[in-house]
Amino acid sequence: MSETEQGWKNLPVGARHHRAYVSPPESYDIGGAYQFALLVFLGLREWHYLLDVGCGSLRGGRFFISYLLPGRYHGIEPNTWLVRDAIEKEIGEDMVRLKKPVFSDDSNFTLSTFGRKFDFILAQSIFSHASKAQIRRCLSEAKKVMKPESIFAATFVEGDEDYEGDEWVYPGEVSYTFDTMRSLAEEQGFACVKLDWPHAYMQQWVAIVHPENLENLPAMCDAARVKRLERELEYYRERLQSITTHPYVKLGLKVNSAINAVKRWCSGMLKLGALLLQVPLFEYLALTV
Ligand SMILES: C[S@@+](CC[C@H](N)C(=O)[O-])C[C@H]1O[C@@H](n2cnc3c(N)ncnc32)[C@H](O)[C@@H]1O
Repeated sequence: MSETEQGWKNLPVGARHHRAYVSPPESYDIGGAYQFALLVFLGLREWHYLLDVGCGSLRGGRFFISYLLPGRYHGIEPNTWLVRDAIEKEIGEDMVRLKKPVFSDDSNFTLSTFGRKFDFILAQSIFSHASKAQIRRCLSEAKKVMKPESIFAATFVEGDEDYEGDEWVYPGEVSYTFDTMRSLAEEQGFACVKLDWPHAYMQQWVAIVHPENLENLPAMCDAARVKRLERELEYYRERLQSITTHPYVKLGLKVNSAINAVKRWCSGMLKLGALLLQVPLFEYLALTV
């Protein structure tokens, strides 16, 4: 892709571009790859049925659609233009003809709209914008379409307090404590555990499963933990870099170094003054002693 074609990389999240709308645009590629790698790690095979809730512009979908057998990928996305643009600009009509992904534009988390059960459900960066009522609705629908061994992988923003509003918040984010996320899952009879898996912009992954299926979840390996920590470090480096290059911060740093230069100059002058004062003092002492 040429530099001009990458102009979208400077767009804010939520801008009307299929890549920018769904995420910080510079992490569109890796954000999708992390979703795919996680589900493969959790056991996704090509014959499985996958439901991608809020599939957006197929950030993860473009990997899943090519991997899964025809008719296995299902996406719910009320903003239909995102799917349309993703087909046009990311995967092409040939892929759609070949792999027959199935889409719904339902906007009320009706996961049962496809009339079938799923082996895996994905809600990446959905609970990070949803109200408790919406999460409840999503989980109660998940109960209808999950088999005993199905895995629901979701992300949320972990915080010290819960979002108490009723509205979907976008492009801003909302946060929940892990305890809240776990009790929302438990209300529907599910268990909810944290997954040590990297995320492009530091959301927390969880697996929501039937309690008897907990022991079948693969243990998260050290490599995944290290990868997550590396990603965290990279993320905070990027943030620091963007903070230090912000015009106001640059101005502040310049003012600070000017103040330091003045301080150094003043302290030099004070020392010189003290030295000059000492000469007559020594002369006086030498004469009087
Ligand atoms: C942050 S984006 C994440 C998209 C995608 N999961 C990804 O990882 O790129 C949130 C998505 O949820 C969609 N959305 C909004 N309301 C929704 C609803 N009621 N049900 C399902 N998706 C919804 C938005 O249109 C948007 O595509």
